[in-house]
Amino acid sequence: MPQRPLSKVVIPVAGLGTRVLPASKAIPKEMLPVVDKPVIQHVVEEAAAAGFSEIILVSRSGKSAIEDHFDLQYELEAELARKHKTAILEAVQNTLPAGVSVTSVRQAKALGLGHAVLCAAPVIGDDDFAVILPDMLIPNKAGQQPDLNAMAEAYREYGCGQIMVEAVPEDKVERYGIVDCAGQRPAAGQVAAIVGMVEKPKPSEAPSNLSINGRYILPARVMEILQHTQPGAGGEIQLTDAMASLIAEGGQLMAYTMRSQSYDCGNKAGFLEANVVYGLQHPETAAALKALLQDLAL
Ligand code: G1P
Repeated sequence: MPQRPLSKVVIPVAGLGTRVLPASKAIPKEMLPVVDKPVIQHVVEEAAAAGFSEIILVSRSGKSAIEDHFDLQYELEAELARKHKTAILEAVQNTLPAGVSVTSVRQAKALGLGHAVLCAAPVIGDDDFAVILPDMLIPNKAGQQPDLNAMAEAYREYGCGQIMVEAVPEDKVERYGIVDCAGQRPAAGQVAAIVGMVEKPKPSEAPSNLSINGRYILPARVMEILQHTQPGAGGEIQLTDAMASLIAEGGQLMAYTMRSQSYDCGNKAGFLEANVVYGLQHPETAAALKALLQDLAL
């Protein structure tokens, strides 16, 4: 199968951030810091490391701090240069990884994840593309290939879309999109063909406990399907429904079981956990944080 270019990633950032209020009252939740970088920067770095070079933010009013973060900050940079604060200057200048561009489109109404992705259609055109939900942070494990890189490799190997999944307790399936792999359960880092999927099913109706976990590599056809996708679970236009339609019309998608651990920064506990995990990896904070955790464990 001929390879299509895979360089674009859609990152929906138009959410209200109600689960992390009041912290997200005046700043976008995507700008909350995990150690020394906002959540959105960690996600953009993950995308860049997996070879994606065109970031398409789906944003709304009140969220321009996200675009500003990846832009030049002339006064600040000139001041840091004047004071010879080279290391900080570099950190400020490198918020956007080399070779990566950021475009943003607007989602005027909060009509669901599928609608948010559809808002990026004019920029995606006929290309296959990735979707990253920025609430989910996936810190890299030392010496291990990142999951998104492995998904991009599987996309190239099998020539079809890849959806990251992880097993969740059965009483939690109604919080997620759940995939049906006809009884197969791909081991960590492995893939299996998806035969169906359903958004936020009742536990009694869930086809499995394999939940969709915020990372997708999708064929361009999904954009066309989204144009006709009707509101589903929660009255919202669901990406899961569009993917299910793709499978129903004979398209292929695979479930990729993640190897790492994900942290949901859209809720308070997950956000704190992410800070601890990244803090233990950061050379400036690791020792102090480890000492504190040991102290608290006594
Ligand atoms: C979205 C998706 C869902 C997925 C979840 C976590 O739901 O619609 O399929 O499982 O993200 O990645 P939301 O959390 O926006 O309700």
